Amino acid sequence: MPRFLSAKPDSRLLPLPWNVPLDRWPREHLVALPRGISRHVVRFIRVDDEVYAAKELTEPTAFHEYRMLQDLHRLNTPAVEPTAIVTGRADDRGRPLDSVLLTRHLEFSLPYRSLFHSGVRQETVSRLLDAMVVLMARLHLIGFLWRDVSLSNILFRRDAGAFAAYLVDAETAELHPRLSDGQRSHDLDIAIVNLFGEFSDLEAGQLLDESLEPEALVRQIEARYHALWSELTGREEFSSGELYRIENRVRRLNQLGFDVAELDISTAADGSTVQIQPKVVDAGHHSRRLMRLTGLDTEENQARRLLNDLDTYRARTNQGDVPESVVAHEWLTRCFEPVVTAIPPHLTGKRDPAQIFHEVLDYRWYASQRANREVPLTDAVQGYIADVLTALPDEVTGSVAQGDDHARHQLNPYDPSEGYAEDLEAPPHDPWDADALDPDTEVLPAVLDIEALRRRQKGK
Ligand SMILES: Nc1ncnc2c1ncn2[C@@H]1O[C@H](COP(=O)(O)OP(=O)(O)OP(=O)(O)O)[C@@H](O)[C@H]1O
Ligand SMILES: [Mg+2]
Repeated sequence: MPRFLSAKPDSRLLPLPWNVPLDRWPREHLVALPRGISRHVVRFIRVDDEVYAAKELTEPTAFHEYRMLQDLHRLNTPAVEPTAIVTGRADDRGRPLDSVLLTRHLEFSLPYRSLFHSGVRQETVSRLLDAMVVLMARLHLIGFLWRDVSLSNILFRRDAGAFAAYLVDAETAELHPRLSDGQRSHDLDIAIVNLFGEFSDLEAGQLLDESLEPEALVRQIEARYHALWSELTGREEFSSGELYRIENRVRRLNQLGFDVAELDISTAADGSTVQIQPKVVDAGHHSRRLMRLTGLDTEENQARRLLNDLDTYRARTNQGDVPESVVAHEWLTRCFEPVVTAIPPHLTGKRDPAQIFHEVLDYRWYASQRANREVPLTDAVQGYIADVLTALPDEVTGSVAQGDDHARHQLNPYDPSEGYAEDLEAPPHDPWDADALDPDTEVLPAVLDIEALRRRQKGK
């Protein structure tokens, strides 16, 4: 008789065939979505409109991982959300089966293998590395020692022109009140070894652009991690005549997407020098502000972009004196919502609403440049749907029936560990790369990379 442990029980999970090993589950319960390679058996299971990731592992490990993921959730750190553990499983002959850890499928997430293919631009890779470094620093700030940092244990979500990274595998992790420098550097060493291996694999499979070297990539990660860590936690000393540097430090942290909850400021006995050191920093500066103003829950860079648009709206409608929360509500109903509701239901699985809004803003900029006039948002969204969105691959679901790319090329669409069928067709489409840099391409790129488009525009 299986036993369920869950903080948020979903009764639809109870009647599933828990007496069958996961790798023999009937397909009617499964959904083929892109996913990373793993040692354990992992399957995506669907109950009505909800998708869960199910991972088979020993009972103590399942409990440990469940607790770790719950802690991360409580501490507001990007990780997959644990739903339940199923223990006490046995097959029809009474032989015991491993426990199952259920996590909610992270919508719109992409495993790294879906993001790399030959020719992926350096900039894209750079953004992935940045997202990874931010995740590591955020984990270390809360005392979380991962001990298994690797590309396959991270999921990426689009975040305006960048990516946001989520932790997906917490089996080996430990949570401490704080981490020593030694512990952090140990975690970083593990990351470097794992990532070097994964980049080398990509290189061997000709999935890494020739201009990218595994060695250089991991060194870049190391350097960026140290730079970010010292910005987030480092002590700074200056003369008492330079007090503006206190505000500068706070602003720089805000720029990086962090809020300072506690700043330690001490002055020398003779008052000649001042020392500052951030004591508590919280990630999500912009997303918190956007949430407060509009109730929208977005990634950090998406929030930055939406807030910029809100500021522009406020200036354009001459509402500088009107309280920001009032303008925000108006912007939400007049700008944001009309764009989101204009998306036909069958296309909503391609991007989350904030990402769509960001891409529509990019599209409008480009369309306005071409038309030499300001294109209204309502026109831009129609153009975006027709020229861009329709052609994009699904990122939320992507079942075999819907003809998902990842699923089609895999020997077993429910299990990527079995590898891909030999396939000489075109490489998977990377919207970030889409012909934006090619001056001869007349068709619109699949996703508009604003910087690339600006360069292209200049070149004309
Ligand atoms: N909640 C989720 N949402 C989306 N994808 C998920 C989720 N849980 C797992 N995955 C996918 O399944 C893959 C394997 O999961 P996971 O890393 O937990 O397995 P594992 O066997 O413990 O891995 P390892 O070999 O590193 O020990 C991940 O790389 C990810 O792509
Ligand atoms: Mg893993």
